[in-house]
Amino acid sequence: MTQAENGGLDRILVMEVVRVTEVAAVAAAKLRGRGNEKGADKAAVDAMRAELGKLSIHGTVVIGEGEMDEAPMLYIGEKLGAGGPEVDIAVDPLEGTTICAKSAPNALAVLAISEKGGLLHAPDMYMDKIAIGPGYPEGVVDLDASPADNLAAMAKVKGVPVSALTACILDRARHSDIIRAVREAGASVQLIPDGDIAGVIWTTDPKETGVDIYLGHGGAPEGVLAAAALRSMGGQMQGRLVPSDDSERVRAAKMGIPDIDRKFMLQDLASTDVIFSASGVTGGSLLDGVTFDGDMIETETIVMRSKTGTMRRVRTRYRGLPESANL
Ligand code: FBP
Repeated sequence: MTQAENGGLDRILVMEVVRVTEVAAVAAAKLRGRGNEKGADKAAVDAMRAELGKLSIHGTVVIGEGEMDEAPMLYIGEKLGAGGPEVDIAVDPLEGTTICAKSAPNALAVLAISEKGGLLHAPDMYMDKIAIGPGYPEGVVDLDASPADNLAAMAKVKGVPVSALTACILDRARHSDIIRAVREAGASVQLIPDGDIAGVIWTTDPKETGVDIYLGHGGAPEGVLAAAALRSMGGQMQGRLVPSDDSERVRAAKMGIPDIDRKFMLQDLASTDVIFSASGVTGGSLLDGVTFDGDMIETETIVMRSKTGTMRRVRTRYRGLPESANL
């Protein structure tokens, strides 16, 4: 029986996925600040994979660490779980490998689980993204409109001047035109070194985070994961793949995206009921990082279920390392 026939993703699964991102966060946090991106990523991957194997699901990885012929763990197409309803799994066991290596803010362990077919099979390439939080009329911003037009439309709805708005953008040379356009329009720019899943999520609570809109090119897999979160929290998002060469176009087609120019709406990126979980590896404005205090370990996680729009913050205290984080 598929999850849809079963009445949507299981409520119990929501609490079980918390453990999955928790163990990945703890495993990565043990290597915070060591300048070892690969080591921390591998620790998070191994821990997440072991914990996913215990869930009562029949899962298929649709966004993972790479293709099967590269033979990584959590490869696209890998089957995981101890048996149960058929679901699709999107993982980013360590979102912000460089952040973690530098012990800088906002590294996360991230997971989304959807009903079968509910998440876009996004290839590992760039995606042009635009995202805003809830409370705006549908279509107020558009990927194909200029930053100035988008900001003006948002300001009008909010009843504020454009100067009251802030756009979050990855600090990359490729974004110099967008950054200039946002500033020339009169808005402020918050540049982030990495971690655009958090950047998108911040738009859902501008009063708290100071971020009204997310703009720019980031990873396509991260785009799908962020869309899974927005589906629960409310908000709007659009994305379009940005292949860097023909081989990426071919890869996209092989993964079921023949029209490389297609503009994906939020509902295309995450099309069904979905569960999203993120645990803090390093502390930041979204989540606290893992803390180690003697044999006590504490984690913080946000977990959401789109069917109900529920969002929980879970603080967990482990006495000693959770089993899968101690591989
Ligand atoms: P990693 O965890 O794989 O290092 O990704 C971090 C990240 O900043 C993502 O959040 C973002 O989508 C992507 O990298 C941007 O890619 P690039 O670093 O090539 O600009």
